[in-house]
Amino acid sequence: MPFFNVRMGCSKQMKKMIELNHVQYSYILPSGERIQAVRDISFTIQPGEHIAIIGANGSGKTTLVQLINGLITPDSGWVLVDGYFTSDRNHHADIFSKIGLVFQNPRDQIVASLVEEDTAFGPENLCLSHSEIRERVAASLTMSGALHLKERQTYLLSAGETQRVALAGVLAMRPACLIFDETTAMLDPQSRKELLDVMTTFHKQGFTIIHVTHDLDEVLTADRILVLHAGQLVLDGSPYEVFKDEKALREYSLILPDLLKFTQDLRSYFPDLADFYRSEEALLTDLGKIPRSGVGGERTNKMIQQNDLEEDFIHFNHLSHTYMAGTPLAQPTLQDITFSLAKAESVGLVGHTGSGKSTLLQHLNGLIRPQQGMVRIGEFDLSRADVDVKTLRQQVGLVFQLPEAQFFEMYVGDEIAYAARTLGYTGKLRDLVQIAMQAVGLDFEQFVDRPLFSLSGGQKRRVALASYLVVQPQVLLLDEPFAGLDPLIHQEMIQLVNRLKEEGKTLILSTHTMRDLLQIVQKAIVLHSGKIVSQGTTVDLFFQPDLHDWGLEIPLELRIAEALRKKGWEIPVEMVRWDSIVGWLRTRMAGGVDARF
Ligand SMILES: Nc1ncnc2c1ncn2[C@@H]1O[C@H](COP(=O)(O)OP(=O)(O)OP(=O)(O)O)[C@@H](O)[C@H]1O
Ligand SMILES: [Mg+2]
Repeated sequence: MPFFNVRMGCSKQMKKMIELNHVQYSYILPSGERIQAVRDISFTIQPGEHIAIIGANGSGKTTLVQLINGLITPDSGWVLVDGYFTSDRNHHADIFSKIGLVFQNPRDQIVASLVEEDTAFGPENLCLSHSEIRERVAASLTMSGALHLKERQTYLLSAGETQRVALAGVLAMRPACLIFDETTAMLDPQSRKELLDVMTTFHKQGFTIIHVTHDLDEVLTADRILVLHAGQLVLDGSPYEVFKDEKALREYSLILPDLLKFTQDLRSYFPDLADFYRSEEALLTDLGKIPRSGVGGERTNKMIQQNDLEEDFIHFNHLSHTYMAGTPLAQPTLQDITFSLAKAESVGLVGHTGSGKSTLLQHLNGLIRPQQGMVRIGEFDLSRADVDVKTLRQQVGLVFQLPEAQFFEMYVGDEIAYAARTLGYTGKLRDLVQIAMQAVGLDFEQFVDRPLFSLSGGQKRRVALASYLVVQPQVLLLDEPFAGLDPLIHQEMIQLVNRLKEEGKTLILSTHTMRDLLQIVQKAIVLHSGKIVSQGTTVDLFFQPDLHDWGLEIPLELRIAEALRKKGWEIPVEMVRWDSIVGWLRTRMAGGVDARF
């Protein structure tokens, strides 16, 4: 296309923030194989729009946002950002300063070793004055909730903290459009809420927001949702339009957001509810109109005593850990941790980002050795220098928070077989690998020989889970294992972990997703700034007065149950699963209670 015509085209379309026209993009693997990630996509985004992008793992979301900010350019078709073609090298700086992209893996975005320096990196490259840089750094760190981290070493930050710092670096460039690629995935519920509020605030201030997420409840407030499937744009519409056809969603590996699913269930009992709510507040307001029908349920509030957990297969005794101990950068991370777990028992480990969960788990497979205090697992005393770590790791499987941190091999098949090989497994490895890949929804033929670096975020996560499944050690340590999985496979993985649990595995599940916690474990330990502040049943956990301070929140189904309870529905407090709450409502209705309002 001649340059002149292109510029003419631009001037007519100056109002558009972003325009894609028949964009195609393929990755070429070292083997020469082409992976077509984006197929003939066209759409426009107006300035100030709030767009959500959803779709299964590998559907092309990350590729698409990288095409938008010019990190990669189309094989054919074009992308126009505020009047500039992303393929026009002369305007790369203009595009980068317009579009701020917070990466799916935030560590890829950190350049400096000190947080403050990292945030200053972008503005420094714009050759701004010292005072302007200082002002931008402080404002950006404040907006992303990372001001308290400003003097910290970037490589020692937890995953959630890294996400905040990455966001600050982007904000410091003062972009007009902010793209978040699964930025909420590693955050604790409170931080997640805060980040969503940040997005809403930026949107109100006129920023264009593009939000890629697997959490479908987060997209209900968007102006428009783009649904990707196998590299194609298959739906582009309002949240109402996108979610009205549940069958079509399934084809794209999507499900209904919880809010809409719960609304659907409630509507069979309370038919006057609307069929679509964009916010939980709106649903709760309508639920509030249901007439009183009885007295509120009593809360038992019985905490499990320390002793209830004291049969020890796994035992932590006054464990403390400080990173960079003895240096001015010393970072106390665990303090006086004491708890025990019996064989075949399972427990959830929850707490704000950076509370020490990953550090605690890494003590159990010998990755970190006790500095102070003791850790024992079965006959292995990890405080002893001569502990047989190799044998220990045959019995203790750790699925890391960031899957790439655990990869040793180049290719998917080798990686999944790795642990089995090192343990001297002699059976038919190929068959084992195939079964494990099937269990995590990775097509064997398509993926077995793929280099790991070429996988999407969620595909990497599936490989990490599959490598655990090949060996199936007795102890299963899961560190935020479901982050980044698309909604359908997320549900399947929960069922899988529950099956493993029923088979008698000892399980510690660290998670920020309160619903996952409820669906898998009955007991939970809360870490707060490196200390255990609570341990008990998950039911009791949700009635703890400090829940908010610990960075946690009650899951949506319990908030709905609580709202109904306040209106006089006597839903028993120990009822924490949505199925049982709906079941209870069904029996009430069978008893002839008229719930119409
Ligand atoms: N560097 C790469 N080299 C080769 N193929 C790649 C590369 N990055 C991604 N792909 C492939 O391109 C397709 C789209 O990947 P992309 O990362 O855009 O998906 P996604 O929708 O962001 O997935 P997720 O939800 O898992 O993050 C996938 O098939 C993926 O395996
Ligand atoms: Mg992605």
